Amino acid sequence: QRHMMIVFLILMLGSAQSQFSGEVSNDGMFVSYYYLHSSPSQELNSTGSVDEDGVCYCTVILPDTTFPYDRFEHLEISNRNLNVQPLQIHSYELMVTVYLEKLKNLTVRVEKLENGELSYTKLDFELLKLEIIEMESLIVQLKASLNGTNVIVETLYAEIRNISILVHQMESYDKNNVLIIRREILALQKRLEDCQTHVNASRPPPTVDYGSCDHGGIINISKPLVVQLNYLSSSNTRGVWGKDAAKGVSNGHYFVAPLLTSDLRMMNVFRTYSSYDDLALYRQAASVTLSSGTTYTNCGQGGGAIVYKHFLYYNCYNTRNICKLNLTDNAITRIALTDSVFNNRFSYSHTTFQDIDMASDEDGLWVIYSTEQDIGNFVISKLNDASFTVQQTWRTSQYKPAATNAFMACGVLYATRALDTKSEEIYYMYDTKTGKESSLSIPFTKMRENVHSLSYNPNDHKLYMYNDGFLVTYDLTFQPVAAEKFLTE
Ligand SMILES: *[C@@H]1O[C@H](CO)[C@@H](O)[C@H](O)[C@H]1NC(C)=O
Ligand SMILES: *[C@@H]1O[C@H](CO)[C@@H](O)[C@H](O)[C@H]1NC(C)=O
Ligand SMILES: *[C@@H]1O[C@H](CO)[C@@H](O)[C@H](O)[C@H]1NC(C)=O
Ligand SMILES: *[C@@H]1O[C@H](CO)[C@@H](O)[C@H](O)[C@H]1NC(C)=O
Ligand SMILES: *[C@@H]1O[C@H](CO)[C@@H](O)[C@H](O)[C@H]1NC(C)=O
Ligand SMILES: *[C@@H]1O[C@H](CO)[C@@H](O)[C@H](O)[C@H]1NC(C)=O
Ligand SMILES: *[C@@H]1O[C@H](CO)[C@@H](O)[C@H](O)[C@H]1NC(C)=O
Repeated sequence: QRHMMIVFLILMLGSAQSQFSGEVSNDGMFVSYYYLHSSPSQELNSTGSVDEDGVCYCTVILPDTTFPYDRFEHLEISNRNLNVQPLQIHSYELMVTVYLEKLKNLTVRVEKLENGELSYTKLDFELLKLEIIEMESLIVQLKASLNGTNVIVETLYAEIRNISILVHQMESYDKNNVLIIRREILALQKRLEDCQTHVNASRPPPTVDYGSCDHGGIINISKPLVVQLNYLSSSNTRGVWGKDAAKGVSNGHYFVAPLLTSDLRMMNVFRTYSSYDDLALYRQAASVTLSSGTTYTNCGQGGGAIVYKHFLYYNCYNTRNICKLNLTDNAITRIALTDSVFNNRFSYSHTTFQDIDMASDEDGLWVIYSTEQDIGNFVISKLNDASFTVQQTWRTSQYKPAATNAFMACGVLYATRALDTKSEEIYYMYDTKTGKESSLSIPFTKMRENVHSLSYNPNDHKLYMYNDGFLVTYDLTFQPVAAEKFLTE
């Protein structure tokens, strides 16, 4: 059954520009109507006329005068204001682009309605309302993604809330409930879901790739994961453990090296495991003994060791030397770390004999130590692992024994200190790329009071901690670069 359109024109006495339009089905039933810019007025009565296109023109009697045209005008004005604001944040996100297009569409429709190009039916009204709800939803998402600190978005949000309230107020004047709109509501709900999916898909949670330094530094540390008690006993409170920390090494070995309980200092025996499961189950361990006699030259000192490209690097016992042990054949080479203090001169605040602390990150192999000339402050040297030489050295103004430990990530030294017996924080950083140092506060919890070793692994963004005999890991979160720009713009 075809429906035909009939356009009504109302010529108001004393208000010639007022218009009214509606739809009429060919069985004569009035479906719905709205009018714009009407004013309380006299009623008119007239017969209609039909033009050559078959469109019927006639005047009608106004139903009542309660329509809130003043409120509607307010809405239009708010809408226009709204249209200006999003331009400022247009570049931010795809979400805003979608939102803006919808808003433009909406504005165009309101203008068409105003000019009488469209019939202002109830359906249009419901669409308007739903689209405002949709915009509200989008702006809420945008707010969430901006962490609620952006002034423009706050203003937009307030204005959209305002419009929403206005539309609901206008709706309360609507006395004719039309069931056909339910279908449209369902369709719009579907569109909103699609839109959300689209928005969600276009905003994957920002992550930083392993091995990449395209980020703004550490912003958070996870809760500790206790992997295991060290394989000896809970009395072996001091020691070190970790996983091959050379960037890009796949299937890197784990090592666990509890220090001797007799002197709380010497590393003589350590174990390696080829997988995490083996480590967790104390299974298939390879044990290495550095000295079986009374000469301790090959032994280690303190808990500063790391495994890098299948070599164990550590402070050789009772010297300022760094030892490099080939884990395949246990052959050892060594170099002297010029000027470095040793034998517990400048260790860390909660552990002894860690004057020389090895580290690895995305940029390579490092050693963290101090010298007498540096009066106990952190000194950082970059090592060439292949030639086993010192490449470059940086000096800081942070007193090393004040820290509980330190590690490198993307060429930045991060130092930790205890807040209390249960918590720790990263409180200091030194960037070797810029020579800048600064303080920061990234707190994290610990299982036991004393941190005896702490190292970073660029392949899994984890920290490995030897915490009073327990092997613990943490996940680091880095500030994604895009988000950093986004937040500071
Ligand atoms: C309008 O016209 C109809 C039919 O001619 C008539 O019944 C009605 O009374 C008129 N109303 C007014 C307000 O003149
Ligand atoms: C805006 O309107 C155009 C044409 O009317 C349409 O193609 C487009 O999909 C609309 N955009 C949105 C976001 O509704
Ligand atoms: C959000 O803001 C709060 C307080 O301003 C801050 O603590 C938090 O780290 C921020 N979160 C993100 C993901 O930026
Ligand atoms: C919201 O509307 C009220 C009046 O209804 C107005 O005073 C206020 O400024 C509006 N707020 C915004 C953000 O548009
Ligand atoms: C989109 O993400 C928001 C918040 O993360 C969530 O509430 C919503 O359900 C998601 N929508 C879809 C369609 O996945
Ligand atoms: C930071 O890490 C803690 C756990 O240590 C977690 O509870 C918190 O939600 C994280 N914060 C952010 C912004 O990711
Ligand atoms: C480590 O030892 C193995 C076995 O002797 C040898 O094949 C390998 O070349 C050594 N690695 C280096 C870098 O010297």
